[in-house]
Amino acid sequence: MAPWLQVLLLLGLLPAAAPASSKPRAAGAQAWELASPELREPVRFALEMYNRGRAAGTRAALEAVRGRVRRAGRGSLYSLKATLVEPPCNDPTVCQLPVSKKTLLCSFEVLDELGKHMLLRRDCGPVDTKSTDDKNETFSSFLPLLNKDPLPQDFSVKMASIFKDFVTTYNRTYDSKEEASWRMSVFANNMVRAQKIQALDRGTAQYGVTKFSDLTEEEFRTIYLNPLLKDAPGRNMRLAQPITTVPPPQWDWRNKGAVTDVKDQGMCGSCWAFSVTGNVEGQWFLKRGTLLSLSEQELLDCDKTDKACLGGLPSNAYSAIRNLGGLETEDDYSYRGRLQTCSFSAEKAKVYINDSVELSKNEQKLAAWLAKNGPISVAINAFGMQSLAHRPRCAARSATPFWAIKNSWGTDWGEEGYYYLHRGSGACGVNIMASSAVID
Ligand SMILES: *[C@@H]1O[C@H](CO)[C@@H](O)[C@H](O)[C@H]1NC(C)=O
Ligand SMILES: *[C@@H]1O[C@H](CO)[C@@H](O)[C@H](O)[C@H]1NC(C)=O
Ligand SMILES: *[C@@H]1O[C@H](CO)[C@@H](O)[C@H](O)[C@H]1NC(C)=O
Repeated sequence: MAPWLQVLLLLGLLPAAAPASSKPRAAGAQAWELASPELREPVRFALEMYNRGRAAGTRAALEAVRGRVRRAGRGSLYSLKATLVEPPCNDPTVCQLPVSKKTLLCSFEVLDELGKHMLLRRDCGPVDTKSTDDKNETFSSFLPLLNKDPLPQDFSVKMASIFKDFVTTYNRTYDSKEEASWRMSVFANNMVRAQKIQALDRGTAQYGVTKFSDLTEEEFRTIYLNPLLKDAPGRNMRLAQPITTVPPPQWDWRNKGAVTDVKDQGMCGSCWAFSVTGNVEGQWFLKRGTLLSLSEQELLDCDKTDKACLGGLPSNAYSAIRNLGGLETEDDYSYRGRLQTCSFSAEKAKVYINDSVELSKNEQKLAAWLAKNGPISVAINAFGMQSLAHRPRCAARSATPFWAIKNSWGTDWGEEGYYYLHRGSGACGVNIMASSAVID
């Protein structure tokens, strides 16, 4: 199963789309120099950048480091492999949930130009699962200084101007000049990466500037994707009654009043809660005739099996809704995007559910179920979604079938907040975790 998933809402069948594809990255072994005094400054700098913004007591410490250096012109590029130790944390004012001591393996690339440092790459993962293979493809083309084929003279000027537009469009503010220049280098790298993903994508999806373009891949994963889905199977649900009818060629619950506006989960890994409320909103509408926008915050605060902003699973959330006694509305229990004390009140609950079901992995059956019963909660492999700018509204949609998917990243992501994915090929694992609440 794909390790990083986003949970969202399947709500329509449309007759055409672009299949998304992903290829494993190339990996290769390389010889590394032993640590030397020359590494002291770049290592100190990388660690400082890693710990930037962290409160005392939560900063990672360096355990071991190896590195190598390449020189060109006035600059030196240090590639570092470091073992970092993250301290345990039990203080709820500092870390949202208790975390135990963690050892990470990180790859850093630090550019030193006449004593001025810049972090060009940061990629960390748990020491036991992290591959130590070098993955330098992402950043090499961003460095005119070190590149064998020099980039056009105006590359950085152009990039600066695109970045400036980005900052205006998405109203970004940075705490310091260093932060701004770091974000700009992240942005430039993401642009290069987007071009590479574009080349891998067989379809018409367009990758480029999005509101996440100043986040590193790792930050994006941590904040927006769903870590709990990685290994937790969650509660078992009974299988839904199979549907034997053939799905209609086209179906869109948005045209039938079953779908609320696109919401925004903010800097919180709560996609699971949005996916579930979206499904329950649709179920309630179809069974009771009223479309109500329902509370994700209630699930963040009161569903103790899931982990609020650190991820969760729809199967657990349905269970929590039943045990709590229903869902309040968005107005009564508004979204804050962080864990708070549970303040659910049964009297305010406007909606209940009686059960939940797991749906077929066969997309034809899934489509038939959707058209008959309403929007479905699904999880998809979120590869490339950080860079997905928009898909052109092209006529080619009539050629291949696709799913219409509602995400919870605001309307300034994707196509007005929606995503269209090829239907019938298991694209992005869309069929692996489909479920729905049941209202009797
Ligand atoms: C990293 O970059 C070097 C120099 O461009 C190249 O020779 C090497 O194959 C690259 N390694 C990987 C894993 O892509
Ligand atoms: C832009 O950001 C600032 C500071 O975060 C905020 O006060 C302001 O309301 C934002 N403006 C818009 C249009 O979002
Ligand atoms: C469904 O749940 C509601 C609220 O808990 C309950 O009142 C109702 O009787 C249940 N329906 C069935 C058929 O069990």
